[in-house]
Amino acid sequence: MTRSPRQRVIYVCQQCGYQSPRWEGRCADCGAWNSLVETVEAPEPAPGRSVAMSAGMVRPVPLAQLQSSRFERVPVPIGEFSRVLGGGIVPGSVVLVGGDPGIGKSTLLLQLAGSLADQVGPVLYVSGEESAEQVKLRADRLSVGGERLFVLAETALDQVLVQIEEVRPRLVVVDSIQTMYLPAVPSAAGSVTQVRESAMALLRVAKATHIPIFIVGHVTKEGAIAGPRVLEHIVDTVLYLEGERFHSYRLLRGVKNRFGSTNEVGVFEMQGDGLAEVSNPSAVFLGERTGPTFGSAVAVTLEGTRPLLVEIQALTTTTTFGLPRRTANGIDLGRLLVLTAVLTKRVGLGLSNQDIYVNVVGGLKVSEPAADLAVAVAVASSFREVSIATDLAVIGEVGLSGELRRVGQLERRLAEAANLGFRRCLIPQSAASPRLAQQLGLTTIGAASVAEAIEIAWEP
Ligand code: TYD
Ligand code: MG
Repeated sequence: MTRSPRQRVIYVCQQCGYQSPRWEGRCADCGAWNSLVETVEAPEPAPGRSVAMSAGMVRPVPLAQLQSSRFERVPVPIGEFSRVLGGGIVPGSVVLVGGDPGIGKSTLLLQLAGSLADQVGPVLYVSGEESAEQVKLRADRLSVGGERLFVLAETALDQVLVQIEEVRPRLVVVDSIQTMYLPAVPSAAGSVTQVRESAMALLRVAKATHIPIFIVGHVTKEGAIAGPRVLEHIVDTVLYLEGERFHSYRLLRGVKNRFGSTNEVGVFEMQGDGLAEVSNPSAVFLGERTGPTFGSAVAVTLEGTRPLLVEIQALTTTTTFGLPRRTANGIDLGRLLVLTAVLTKRVGLGLSNQDIYVNVVGGLKVSEPAADLAVAVAVASSFREVSIATDLAVIGEVGLSGELRRVGQLERRLAEAANLGFRRCLIPQSAASPRLAQQLGLTTIGAASVAEAIEIAWEP
Protein backbone atom coordinates (compact mmCIF):
# COMPACT_ATOMS: atom_id res chain seq x y z
CA MET A 1 0.00 0.00 0.00
CA THR A 2 1.36 3.44 -0.84
CA ARG A 3 0.91 6.00 1.83
CA SER A 4 1.23 9.71 1.71
CA PRO A 5 3.96 10.99 4.04
CA ARG A 6 1.47 12.17 6.66
CA GLN A 7 -0.19 8.79 7.08
CA ARG A 8 1.17 6.77 9.93
CA VAL A 9 0.63 3.17 10.97
CA ILE A 10 -0.49 2.75 14.55
CA TYR A 11 -1.84 -0.18 16.53
CA VAL A 12 -5.20 0.31 18.17
CA CYS A 13 -6.66 -1.86 20.92
CA GLN A 14 -10.09 -3.07 19.79
CA GLN A 15 -11.30 -3.22 23.36
CA CYS A 16 -10.44 0.16 24.79
CA GLY A 17 -9.01 2.30 21.98
CA TYR A 18 -5.47 2.43 23.39
CA GLN A 19 -2.93 3.34 20.69
CA SER A 20 0.61 2.13 20.40
CA PRO A 21 3.28 2.78 17.78
CA ARG A 22 4.32 -0.90 17.97
CA TRP A 23 2.36 -4.12 17.96
CA GLU A 24 2.08 -5.65 21.39
CA GLY A 25 0.61 -8.97 22.42
CA ARG A 26 -1.25 -7.42 25.28
CA CYS A 27 -2.86 -4.02 25.57
CA ALA A 28 -0.87 -1.94 28.03
CA ASP A 29 -3.99 -0.08 29.06
CA CYS A 30 -6.82 -2.58 29.55
CA GLY A 31 -4.80 -5.80 29.55
CA ALA A 32 -6.75 -7.51 26.76
CA TRP A 33 -4.72 -10.10 24.86
CA ASN A 34 -4.14 -9.93 21.15
CA SER A 35 -6.47 -6.98 20.74
CA LEU A 36 -4.15 -4.56 18.89
CA VAL A 37 -4.92 -4.13 15.21
CA GLU A 38 -2.85 -2.33 12.62
CA THR A 39 -4.59 0.87 11.60
CA VAL A 40 -3.61 3.58 9.17
CA GLU A 41 -4.09 6.86 10.90
CA ALA A 42 -6.06 9.35 8.84
CA PRO A 43 -3.98 12.35 7.84
CA GLU A 44 -4.53 15.26 10.12
CA PRO A 45 -6.15 18.26 8.47
CA ALA A 46 -3.83 21.17 7.85
CA PRO A 47 -4.00 23.17 11.08
CA GLY A 48 -4.67 26.56 9.49
CA ARG A 49 -7.77 25.30 7.70
CA SER A 50 -9.44 23.57 10.60
CA VAL A 51 -8.99 26.51 12.94
CA ALA A 52 -10.45 28.87 10.38
CA MET A 53 -13.35 26.50 9.71
CA SER A 54 -14.41 26.04 13.27
CA ALA A 55 -14.07 29.75 13.97
CA GLY A 56 -16.60 30.37 11.26
CA MET A 57 -19.04 27.76 12.48
CA VAL A 58 -19.75 28.00 16.20
CA ARG A 59 -19.28 30.85 18.57
CA PRO A 60 -19.62 30.98 22.33
CA VAL A 61 -23.10 32.07 23.34
CA PRO A 62 -24.01 33.78 26.62
CA LEU A 63 -25.82 31.30 28.79
CA ALA A 64 -28.69 33.71 29.29
CA GLN A 65 -29.41 33.77 25.57
CA LEU A 66 -29.64 30.01 25.22
CA GLN A 67 -33.10 28.58 24.93
CA SER A 68 -33.87 25.86 27.39
CA SER A 69 -37.08 25.01 25.55
CA ARG A 70 -34.93 22.94 23.22
CA PHE A 71 -34.72 20.40 25.98
CA GLU A 72 -38.38 19.65 26.04
CA ARG A 73 -38.38 15.91 26.01
CA VAL A 74 -39.98 13.85 23.30
CA PRO A 75 -42.57 11.70 25.07
CA VAL A 76 -41.95 7.94 24.91
CA PRO A 77 -45.18 5.98 24.65
CA ILE A 78 -43.60 2.92 26.31
CA GLY A 79 -43.78 3.64 30.04
CA GLU A 80 -41.03 1.30 31.19
CA PHE A 81 -38.69 2.72 28.55
CA SER A 82 -39.59 6.28 29.42
CA ARG A 83 -38.82 5.68 33.07
CA VAL A 84 -35.27 4.50 32.31
CA LEU A 85 -34.63 7.51 30.09
CA GLY A 86 -35.74 9.85 32.84
CA GLY A 87 -39.15 10.69 31.37
CA GLY A 88 -38.73 11.04 27.61
CA ILE A 89 -36.04 11.60 25.02
CA VAL A 90 -33.94 14.73 25.15
CA PRO A 91 -33.69 16.27 21.67
CA GLY A 92 -30.22 15.96 20.22
CA SER A 93 -29.18 13.26 22.68
CA VAL A 94 -27.41 10.08 21.66
CA VAL A 95 -28.47 6.94 23.48
CA LEU A 96 -26.50 3.71 23.30
CA VAL A 97 -28.52 0.53 23.84
CA GLY A 98 -26.20 -2.37 24.57
CA GLY A 99 -26.83 -6.04 25.20
CA ASP A 100 -25.94 -9.58 24.20
CA PRO A 101 -26.82 -10.66 20.69
CA GLY A 102 -30.36 -12.00 20.53
CA ILE A 103 -31.51 -10.41 23.76
CA GLY A 104 -34.08 -8.18 22.04
CA LYS A 105 -32.43 -4.85 21.25
CA SER A 106 -33.73 -4.66 17.69
CA THR A 107 -37.16 -5.73 18.86
CA LEU A 108 -37.33 -3.09 21.57
CA LEU A 109 -36.07 -0.29 19.33
CA LEU A 110 -38.37 -1.21 16.48
CA GLN A 111 -41.27 -1.06 18.92
CA LEU A 112 -40.04 2.30 20.16
CA ALA A 113 -39.66 3.54 16.58
CA GLY A 114 -43.14 2.29 15.70
CA SER A 115 -44.94 3.88 18.61
CA LEU A 116 -43.05 7.15 18.22
CA ALA A 117 -43.86 7.25 14.52
CA ASP A 118 -47.51 6.74 15.42
CA GLN A 119 -47.72 9.38 18.06
CA VAL A 120 -44.98 11.93 17.51
CA GLY A 121 -43.68 12.12 13.95
CA PRO A 122 -41.46 10.52 11.33
CA VAL A 123 -38.85 8.03 12.53
CA LEU A 124 -35.87 6.72 10.57
CA TYR A 125 -34.85 3.15 11.37
CA VAL A 126 -31.44 2.37 9.92
CA SER A 127 -30.66 -1.32 9.77
CA GLY A 128 -27.17 -2.47 8.94
CA GLU A 129 -27.81 -6.04 10.00
CA GLU A 130 -31.06 -6.91 8.32
CA SER A 131 -32.52 -6.10 4.94
CA ALA A 132 -35.54 -3.83 4.73
CA GLU A 133 -37.71 -6.92 4.08
CA GLN A 134 -36.45 -8.61 7.21
CA VAL A 135 -37.25 -5.50 9.19
CA LYS A 136 -40.70 -5.54 7.64
CA LEU A 137 -41.22 -9.16 8.68
CA ARG A 138 -40.29 -8.32 12.22
CA ALA A 139 -42.47 -5.22 12.17
CA ASP A 140 -45.45 -7.33 11.08
CA ARG A 141 -44.84 -9.65 13.98
CA LEU A 142 -44.77 -6.71 16.34
CA SER A 143 -47.83 -5.11 14.68
CA VAL A 144 -45.71 -2.06 13.99
CA GLY A 145 -46.63 -0.19 10.88
CA GLY A 146 -47.47 3.20 9.62
CA GLU A 147 -46.60 5.73 7.03
CA ARG A 148 -44.18 7.62 9.17
CA LEU A 149 -41.73 4.84 10.00
CA PHE A 150 -38.96 4.90 7.41
CA VAL A 151 -36.64 1.93 7.05
CA LEU A 152 -33.17 2.34 5.57
CA ALA A 153 -31.03 -0.75 5.05
CA GLU A 154 -27.61 0.81 4.77
CA THR A 155 -24.16 0.41 6.27
CA ALA A 156 -22.40 3.41 4.74
CA LEU A 157 -22.74 6.02 7.41
CA ASP A 158 -22.24 8.99 5.12
CA GLN A 159 -25.36 7.87 3.22
CA VAL A 160 -27.21 7.54 6.49
CA LEU A 161 -26.25 11.07 7.45
CA VAL A 162 -27.54 12.36 4.12
CA GLN A 163 -30.86 10.59 4.71
CA ILE A 164 -31.15 12.02 8.20
CA GLU A 165 -30.84 15.51 6.71
CA GLU A 166 -33.35 14.56 4.02
CA VAL A 167 -36.05 12.92 6.14
CA ARG A 168 -35.61 15.17 9.18
CA PRO A 169 -37.15 12.57 11.47
CA ARG A 170 -38.06 13.06 15.11
CA LEU A 171 -35.95 10.04 16.00
CA VAL A 172 -33.21 7.97 14.38
CA VAL A 173 -32.35 4.39 15.32
CA VAL A 174 -29.02 2.97 14.11
CA ASP A 175 -28.95 -0.82 14.40
CA SER A 176 -26.08 -1.55 14.97
CA ILE A 177 -23.05 0.70 15.30
CA GLN A 178 -20.75 -2.26 14.62
CA THR A 179 -22.09 -2.61 11.08
CA MET A 180 -21.65 1.07 10.17
CA TYR A 181 -18.60 2.38 8.38
CA LEU A 182 -17.34 5.69 7.15
CA PRO A 183 -15.62 5.19 3.79
CA ALA A 184 -13.16 7.93 4.69
CA VAL A 185 -11.84 5.97 7.65
CA PRO A 186 -9.29 3.35 6.56
CA SER A 187 -10.26 0.42 8.75
CA ALA A 188 -12.87 -2.33 8.75
CA ALA A 189 -16.46 -1.94 9.99
CA GLY A 190 -16.69 -2.95 13.62
CA SER A 191 -13.11 -1.92 14.41
CA VAL A 192 -12.59 0.46 17.23
CA THR A 193 -11.66 3.33 14.92
CA GLN A 194 -14.75 2.88 12.74
CA VAL A 195 -17.06 2.52 15.70
CA ARG A 196 -15.67 5.59 17.37
CA GLU A 197 -15.63 7.74 14.27
CA SER A 198 -19.15 6.63 13.34
CA ALA A 199 -20.44 7.43 16.79
CA MET A 200 -18.74 10.83 16.68
CA ALA A 201 -20.33 11.56 13.31
CA LEU A 202 -23.77 10.61 14.66
CA LEU A 203 -23.18 12.72 17.74
CA ARG A 204 -22.33 15.75 15.62
CA VAL A 205 -25.48 15.33 13.56
CA ALA A 206 -27.62 14.84 16.65
CA LYS A 207 -26.28 17.98 18.29
CA ALA A 208 -26.53 20.05 15.12
CA THR A 209 -30.06 18.99 14.16
CA HIS A 210 -31.49 18.29 17.64
CA ILE A 211 -32.64 14.92 16.37
CA PRO A 212 -32.17 12.24 19.03
CA ILE A 213 -30.32 9.12 17.89
CA PHE A 214 -30.49 5.66 19.42
CA ILE A 215 -27.49 3.46 18.68
CA VAL A 216 -27.51 -0.31 19.13
CA GLY A 217 -24.23 -1.80 20.32
CA HIS A 218 -23.42 -5.47 20.78
CA VAL A 219 -21.68 -6.60 23.89
CA THR A 220 -18.58 -8.78 23.86
CA LYS A 221 -18.11 -11.90 25.93
CA GLU A 222 -16.28 -9.82 28.51
CA GLY A 223 -19.37 -7.68 28.96
CA ALA A 224 -18.14 -4.42 27.47
CA ILE A 225 -19.95 -2.81 24.56
CA ALA A 226 -18.16 -4.52 21.71
CA GLY A 227 -14.73 -3.21 21.25
CA PRO A 228 -14.77 0.27 22.44
CA ARG A 229 -15.47 1.29 25.92
CA VAL A 230 -14.70 4.65 24.30
CA LEU A 231 -18.23 4.62 22.96
CA GLU A 232 -19.66 4.93 26.43
CA HIS A 233 -17.80 8.22 26.88
CA ILE A 234 -19.04 9.67 23.63
CA VAL A 235 -22.76 9.15 24.03
CA ASP A 236 -25.11 10.90 26.47
CA THR A 237 -26.90 7.86 27.78
CA VAL A 238 -25.99 4.18 28.01
CA LEU A 239 -28.70 1.60 28.55
CA TYR A 240 -28.22 -2.14 28.83
CA LEU A 241 -30.84 -4.69 27.98
CA GLU A 242 -30.18 -7.78 30.02
CA GLY A 243 -31.77 -11.06 30.87
CA GLU A 244 -31.34 -14.76 30.48
CA ARG A 245 -31.70 -15.94 26.95
CA PHE A 246 -34.01 -18.78 27.93
CA HIS A 247 -36.13 -16.78 30.30
CA SER A 248 -38.60 -14.29 29.04
CA TYR A 249 -37.85 -11.35 31.35
CA ARG A 250 -35.65 -8.50 30.24
CA LEU A 251 -34.33 -5.62 32.29
CA LEU A 252 -33.49 -2.32 30.68
CA ARG A 253 -30.96 -0.68 32.94
CA GLY A 254 -29.50 2.82 32.83
CA VAL A 255 -25.72 2.77 33.22
CA LYS A 256 -25.03 6.38 32.34
CA ASN A 257 -27.46 9.20 31.82
CA ARG A 258 -26.56 12.83 31.32
CA PHE A 259 -30.23 13.79 31.53
CA GLY A 260 -31.59 11.70 34.35
CA SER A 261 -30.93 9.19 37.07
CA THR A 262 -29.14 5.93 36.35
CA ASN A 263 -31.03 4.23 39.09
CA GLU A 264 -34.02 3.18 37.07
CA VAL A 265 -34.81 -0.15 35.52
CA GLY A 266 -37.54 -1.03 33.08
CA VAL A 267 -38.93 -4.54 33.11
CA PHE A 268 -40.18 -6.27 29.98
CA GLU A 269 -41.33 -9.70 29.02
CA MET A 270 -40.46 -11.18 25.63
CA GLN A 271 -43.63 -12.51 24.08
CA GLY A 272 -44.59 -13.80 20.69
CA ASP A 273 -45.38 -10.29 19.53
CA GLY A 274 -42.47 -8.43 21.03
CA LEU A 275 -41.51 -7.02 24.39
CA ALA A 276 -44.43 -6.31 26.69
CA GLU A 277 -44.12 -3.94 29.60
CA VAL A 278 -44.24 -5.45 33.04
CA SER A 279 -45.44 -2.72 35.33
CA ASN A 280 -45.76 -4.89 38.42
CA PRO A 281 -42.71 -7.13 38.20
CA SER A 282 -42.86 -8.48 41.74
CA ALA A 283 -46.30 -9.93 41.13
CA VAL A 284 -44.97 -11.64 38.02
CA PHE A 285 -41.85 -13.04 39.63
CA LEU A 286 -43.89 -14.47 42.46
CA GLY A 287 -46.72 -15.54 40.17
CA GLU A 288 -45.83 -19.21 40.01
CA ARG A 289 -45.43 -19.77 43.69
CA THR A 290 -47.47 -22.65 44.97
CA GLY A 291 -48.23 -23.11 48.67
CA PRO A 292 -45.51 -23.86 51.19
CA THR A 293 -42.67 -26.03 49.94
CA PHE A 294 -39.25 -26.88 51.27
CA GLY A 295 -36.44 -24.62 50.17
CA SER A 296 -38.31 -21.57 48.96
CA ALA A 297 -37.97 -18.06 50.39
CA VAL A 298 -39.00 -14.63 49.16
CA ALA A 299 -36.31 -11.95 49.04
CA VAL A 300 -36.86 -8.23 48.57
CA THR A 301 -34.12 -6.78 46.39
CA LEU A 302 -33.68 -3.36 44.90
CA GLU A 303 -33.10 -2.79 41.22
CA GLY A 304 -31.99 0.79 41.19
CA THR A 305 -34.65 2.48 43.26
CA ARG A 306 -37.23 -0.13 42.49
CA PRO A 307 -37.96 -2.87 44.97
CA LEU A 308 -38.48 -6.32 43.52
CA LEU A 309 -39.74 -9.40 45.27
CA VAL A 310 -38.21 -12.60 44.00
CA GLU A 311 -38.51 -16.19 44.97
CA ILE A 312 -35.27 -17.93 45.86
CA GLN A 313 -35.25 -21.69 45.68
CA ALA A 314 -32.72 -24.02 47.17
CA LEU A 315 -32.29 -27.76 46.96
CA THR A 316 -29.91 -29.81 49.03
CA THR A 317 -29.25 -33.48 48.39
CA THR A 318 -26.71 -35.85 49.84
CA THR A 319 -23.61 -36.05 47.70
CA THR A 320 -23.31 -39.47 46.14
CA PHE A 321 -19.96 -39.14 44.51
CA GLY A 322 -16.81 -37.24 45.39
CA LEU A 323 -16.89 -33.57 46.22
CA PRO A 324 -20.19 -31.87 47.03
CA ARG A 325 -21.46 -29.63 44.25
CA ARG A 326 -22.67 -26.07 44.69
CA THR A 327 -24.55 -24.51 41.81
CA ALA A 328 -25.88 -20.95 41.82
CA ASN A 329 -28.30 -19.62 39.25
CA GLY A 330 -29.02 -15.91 39.53
CA ILE A 331 -26.78 -15.30 42.53
CA ASP A 332 -23.01 -15.20 42.77
CA LEU A 333 -21.49 -18.62 43.39
CA GLY A 334 -18.87 -17.12 45.70
CA ARG A 335 -21.66 -15.66 47.80
CA LEU A 336 -23.37 -19.05 48.01
CA LEU A 337 -20.12 -20.62 49.22
CA VAL A 338 -19.76 -17.99 51.94
CA LEU A 339 -23.36 -18.49 53.06
CA THR A 340 -22.88 -22.26 53.08
CA ALA A 341 -19.81 -21.82 55.29
CA VAL A 342 -21.76 -19.59 57.67
CA LEU A 343 -24.62 -22.11 57.84
CA THR A 344 -22.18 -24.91 58.56
CA LYS A 345 -20.07 -23.16 61.14
CA ARG A 346 -22.44 -20.70 62.83
CA VAL A 347 -25.72 -22.52 62.59
CA GLY A 348 -24.34 -26.04 62.76
CA LEU A 349 -26.07 -27.45 59.66
CA GLY A 350 -24.30 -30.53 58.32
CA LEU A 351 -23.92 -29.28 54.78
CA SER A 352 -20.45 -30.65 54.10
CA ASN A 353 -21.82 -33.79 52.44
CA GLN A 354 -24.63 -32.00 50.63
CA ASP A 355 -24.92 -30.86 47.04
CA ILE A 356 -26.53 -27.42 47.06
CA TYR A 357 -28.41 -25.83 44.19
CA VAL A 358 -29.80 -22.31 44.36
CA ASN A 359 -31.99 -20.69 41.77
CA VAL A 360 -33.61 -17.29 41.44
CA VAL A 361 -36.99 -17.81 39.83
CA GLY A 362 -37.67 -15.96 36.58
CA GLY A 363 -34.07 -15.72 35.40
CA LEU A 364 -33.36 -12.59 37.38
CA LYS A 365 -29.84 -11.87 38.60
CA VAL A 366 -29.63 -10.75 42.19
CA SER A 367 -26.32 -9.21 43.14
CA GLU A 368 -27.39 -7.48 46.31
CA PRO A 369 -26.27 -8.73 49.74
CA ALA A 370 -29.79 -7.93 50.97
CA ALA A 371 -30.85 -11.28 49.51
CA ASP A 372 -28.29 -13.21 51.63
CA LEU A 373 -30.71 -14.08 54.36
CA ALA A 374 -33.33 -15.38 51.95
CA VAL A 375 -30.72 -17.67 50.36
CA ALA A 376 -29.55 -18.91 53.76
CA VAL A 377 -33.08 -19.53 54.95
CA ALA A 378 -34.00 -21.34 51.73
CA VAL A 379 -30.97 -23.65 51.99
CA ALA A 380 -31.72 -24.39 55.64
CA SER A 381 -35.36 -25.03 54.80
CA SER A 382 -34.49 -27.58 52.14
CA PHE A 383 -31.90 -29.25 54.32
CA ARG A 384 -34.14 -29.60 57.34
CA GLU A 385 -37.23 -30.26 55.25
CA VAL A 386 -39.39 -27.67 56.88
CA SER A 387 -41.24 -25.08 54.88
CA ILE A 388 -41.15 -21.33 55.28
CA ALA A 389 -44.35 -19.44 55.95
CA THR A 390 -45.80 -18.16 52.69
CA ASP A 391 -46.73 -14.75 54.09
CA LEU A 392 -43.15 -14.03 55.10
CA ALA A 393 -40.65 -11.92 53.14
CA VAL A 394 -37.00 -12.11 54.12
CA ILE A 395 -34.55 -9.21 54.07
CA GLY A 396 -30.99 -8.98 55.40
CA GLU A 397 -27.29 -9.22 54.72
CA VAL A 398 -25.41 -12.03 56.42
CA GLY A 399 -22.00 -11.38 57.99
CA LEU A 400 -19.25 -13.94 58.48
CA SER A 401 -19.99 -14.42 62.16
CA GLY A 402 -23.55 -15.26 61.26
CA GLU A 403 -24.84 -11.85 62.32
CA LEU A 404 -27.47 -9.99 60.32
CA ARG A 405 -26.66 -6.58 58.95
CA ARG A 406 -29.04 -3.86 57.99
CA VAL A 407 -29.69 -3.08 54.32
CA GLY A 408 -30.35 0.17 52.47
CA GLN A 409 -33.81 1.59 51.79
CA LEU A 410 -35.66 -0.78 54.06
CA GLU A 411 -38.77 1.34 53.91
CA ARG A 412 -39.17 0.93 50.16
CA ARG A 413 -38.69 -2.79 50.45
CA LEU A 414 -41.24 -3.16 53.21
CA ALA A 415 -43.73 -1.06 51.29
CA GLU A 416 -43.40 -3.31 48.24
CA ALA A 417 -43.79 -6.43 50.35
CA ALA A 418 -46.92 -4.97 51.93
CA ASN A 419 -48.23 -4.09 48.47
CA LEU A 420 -48.00 -7.68 47.42
CA GLY A 421 -49.90 -8.92 50.40
CA PHE A 422 -47.06 -10.09 52.64
CA ARG A 423 -48.02 -9.74 56.27
CA ARG A 424 -44.70 -10.41 57.95
CA CYS A 425 -41.11 -9.43 57.19
CA LEU A 426 -38.04 -10.98 58.68
CA ILE A 427 -35.42 -8.25 58.99
CA PRO A 428 -32.16 -7.59 60.86
CA GLN A 429 -32.74 -6.73 64.52
CA SER A 430 -30.78 -3.50 64.19
CA ALA A 431 -33.14 -2.21 61.51
CA ALA A 432 -36.43 -3.04 63.22
CA SER A 433 -38.82 -0.12 63.42
CA PRO A 434 -42.27 -1.08 64.69
CA ARG A 435 -43.73 2.31 63.83
CA LEU A 436 -42.80 2.09 60.18
CA ALA A 437 -44.09 -1.44 59.93
CA GLN A 438 -47.38 -0.48 61.53
CA GLN A 439 -47.93 2.29 59.00
CA LEU A 440 -47.56 -0.27 56.25
CA GLY A 441 -49.77 -2.82 57.92
CA LEU A 442 -46.92 -5.26 58.32
CA THR A 443 -45.35 -7.07 61.19
CA THR A 444 -41.58 -6.92 61.17
CA ILE A 445 -39.69 -9.56 63.06
CA GLY A 446 -36.14 -8.64 63.99
CA ALA A 447 -33.50 -11.33 64.19
CA ALA A 448 -29.93 -10.78 65.34
CA SER A 449 -28.36 -13.82 63.70
CA VAL A 450 -28.97 -16.29 60.89
CA ALA A 451 -29.59 -19.03 63.42
CA GLU A 452 -32.34 -17.00 65.06
CA ALA A 453 -33.83 -16.01 61.70
CA ILE A 454 -34.07 -19.64 60.60
CA GLU A 455 -36.05 -20.58 63.70
CA ILE A 456 -38.44 -17.68 63.12
CA ALA A 457 -38.93 -18.45 59.44
CA TRP A 458 -40.39 -21.93 59.91
CA GLU A 459 -44.03 -22.14 59.26
CA PRO A 460 -45.99 -22.09 62.49
P1 TYD B 1 -33.57 -9.32 18.59
O1 TYD B 1 -34.36 -8.10 18.84
O2 TYD B 1 -33.28 -9.68 17.18
O3 TYD B 1 -32.21 -9.29 19.40
P2 TYD B 1 -30.93 -8.37 19.19
O4 TYD B 1 -31.29 -7.27 18.27
O5 TYD B 1 -30.63 -7.91 20.60
O6 TYD B 1 -29.84 -9.24 18.68
O7 TYD B 1 -34.34 -10.50 19.33
C1 TYD B 1 -34.21 -11.77 18.88
C2 TYD B 1 -34.87 -12.76 19.81
O8 TYD B 1 -36.13 -12.35 20.28
C3 TYD B 1 -35.06 -14.01 19.05
O9 TYD B 1 -34.48 -15.06 19.80
C4 TYD B 1 -36.54 -14.18 18.92
C5 TYD B 1 -37.10 -13.33 20.01
N1 TYD B 1 -38.37 -12.69 19.66
C6 TYD B 1 -39.52 -13.03 20.33
O10 TYD B 1 -39.53 -13.91 21.20
N2 TYD B 1 -40.71 -12.41 20.01
C7 TYD B 1 -40.76 -11.45 19.06
O11 TYD B 1 -41.83 -10.89 18.82
C8 TYD B 1 -39.55 -11.09 18.37
C9 TYD B 1 -39.55 -10.06 17.29
C10 TYD B 1 -38.38 -11.73 18.71
MG1 MG C 1 -30.52 -7.00 16.33
